[in-house]
Amino acid sequence: MKKSATIAAVLIFAGICATSVLATTKTERSGEELFKEHCSTCHPDGSNIINPGKTLRKEHRDAHNITTKADIVEKMRHPGKGMTSWSAATLPDEEAETIADYIIKTFK
Ligand code: HEC
Repeated sequence: MKKSATIAAVLIFAGICATSVLATTKTERSGEELFKEHCSTCHPDGSNIINPGKTLRKEHRDAHNITTKADIVEKMRHPGKGMTSWSAATLPDEEAETIADYIIKTFK
């Protein structure tokens, strides 16, 4: 009886560990990784190969009223001409926000 209780406790503990490891790997994709995967084809180093007047640098973002994380996420949801669009189903809010954070911190 005692032994099986110990085994159960060990199994529960292992389960908790496995769950937290999975949860971390899921959320731990960095903004840089996500940016490279989704955005850098058209925005290498924060530039814009299709519309050079709309780079991701602060100067251009400010000029187009894209000043907050939410503004950048909004752009991914409803982009202008020539840019791919991502719904919450193809790019969850959490990942979109991670990318937006990365852009604000990286392209000054
Ligand atoms: C297929 C090419 C392409 C891809 C991929 C792409 N973009 Fe764009 N992006 C554009 C074009 C073209 C524009 C200019 C049109 C517009 O304003 O939407 C633009 C504009 C923007 C702007 C506005 C910049 C400004 O100065 O007004 C932001 C912010 C932006 N993109 C973010 C992203 C993010 C974040 C990703 C990845 C999730 C991404 N883009 C992926 C082509 C692309």
